[in-house]
Amino acid sequence: MYHKHCGFVLFWLYACALMALSGLFCSNGTILTAPSGENRTDLDPPSRLEVHCWSPSYPFKVLCSWLELPQTQLVTHYIVTYSVKGGEIQQCHPHPVSMASLSIPESSLPRENNSSARTMWRCVLEDLKLYTSYQLNVTAVNTAGSASHLQLFTLEDIVKPDPPVNVTVQVVPGKLKLLVKWDPPPSWSDHTLFPLMYKVRYQWENKGVSHAITLDPFENTQKVLPGLSPGRSYLVQVCSMEHMGMGQSSNWSPPVTVTMP
Ligand SMILES: *[C@@H]1O[C@H](CO)[C@@H](O)[C@H](O)[C@H]1NC(C)=O
Ligand SMILES: *[C@@H]1O[C@H](CO)[C@@H](O)[C@H](O)[C@H]1NC(C)=O
Ligand SMILES: *[C@@H]1O[C@H](CO)[C@@H](O)[C@H](O)[C@H]1NC(C)=O
Ligand SMILES: *[C@@H]1O[C@H](CO)[C@@H](O)[C@H](O)[C@H]1NC(C)=O
Ligand SMILES: *[C@@H]1O[C@H](CO)[C@@H](O)[C@H](O)[C@H]1NC(C)=O
Ligand SMILES: *[C@@H]1O[C@H](CO)[C@@H](O)[C@H](O)[C@H]1NC(C)=O
Repeated sequence: MYHKHCGFVLFWLYACALMALSGLFCSNGTILTAPSGENRTDLDPPSRLEVHCWSPSYPFKVLCSWLELPQTQLVTHYIVTYSVKGGEIQQCHPHPVSMASLSIPESSLPRENNSSARTMWRCVLEDLKLYTSYQLNVTAVNTAGSASHLQLFTLEDIVKPDPPVNVTVQVVPGKLKLLVKWDPPPSWSDHTLFPLMYKVRYQWENKGVSHAITLDPFENTQKVLPGLSPGRSYLVQVCSMEHMGMGQSSNWSPPVTVTMP
C-alpha cells in the first residue's frame, strides 16, 4: 500500500513537471501541498513523537503535549487514550495550542530549532487515581500509516506546578533590603490539602563574576532579602513546589531586576 501511494505521488510530480514544462499550472488536486515533495521522508508514516506529560494541579489534572512532527507534508491526526493496566480505556481529545499562549515552560519542551513554526498539540487528562500507574497511548495517524507512542506515568511523579505570578520587588525604604511578593500560580487548585512552598533566587554580578543565592523553601508569599549592596542590581525570581516535594519545582518566574539606591 505504501509503495502504491508513493508511486501515485511520483506520478503526479512527473505529471506536474511535464505540465509546468508545457506552461501549464498544476492543479491543487494532488496529495502534496508542499514543494519539497520529492523527498521520500516527507511521505513516511509518522514516527518519533516526543510526548511530555505533567500535572500543574495535583491531583486534578494532567496535561500531555507534543509538537507536530517536522517534515510531514501529510495531514496527521492523533488518537489519545489512557488506562490503568487491564482497566477501562479512556479517551482524550487533543487540541492544537498556539505557542504564544503556552504557559508551559520552554525548557520542558523538546529542544528543537524552529519549534515555533510547528503546531503544538495538547490533551487534558482528568479524574485520575492517586498512586496509580497509567499507560498513555498517543497514536499519530496519516494516510501513509500510523505510529503509537506509549508511556507510563504516575500522577505523583509528574507534579510540576506553574511558576508564581505577579512577582514584585521593592526596595525597603532606608534599608539595604528588598521585599519580594508574589501570588500563587492560579492553575494550582487545592491549597488546603496540597499547599505550595516557594523558593526565591537572587543573582548579581560583582567585578564580572556572577553570584546567586537560592533561599530554602517556605510557605509565605513574600520574603525580605537582607544584606544587599548599594548601587548594585539584583535579578530576582521565584518558583513554586508541592509542599511534600512531589514531582518537580516549577520553572523560575520571569526575572525582575532592581537596582539598590
Ligand atoms: C490552490 O491552492 C492555492 C494556495 O494553496 C489557493 O490559493 C487556491 O485557491 C487553490 N485553488 C483551488 C482551485 O483550490
Ligand atoms: C530530504 O531528506 C534528507 C534527510 O532527512 C535531508 O537531508 C534533505 O535535505 C531533504 N531534501 C529535501 C529536498 O528536502
Ligand atoms: C539550531 O540551528 C542552529 C543554526 O541554524 C544550529 O547551529 C543549532 O545547532 C541548531 N540546534 C538544534 C538543537 O538543532
Ligand atoms: C526557521 O524558520 C524560518 C522561517 O520559517 C526559516 O527562514 C529558517 O530557515 C528556519 N531555520 C531552520 C534552522 O530550520
Ligand atoms: C494505541 O492506540 C491505537 C489507536 O487507538 C491502537 O490501535 C493501539 O493498539 C494502541 N496500542 C496499545 C499498546 O494499546
Ligand atoms: C495578579 O494581579 C492582578 C492585578 O493586580 C490580579 O487581578 C490577579 O488576581 C493577580 N493574580 C493572582 C493569582 O492573585
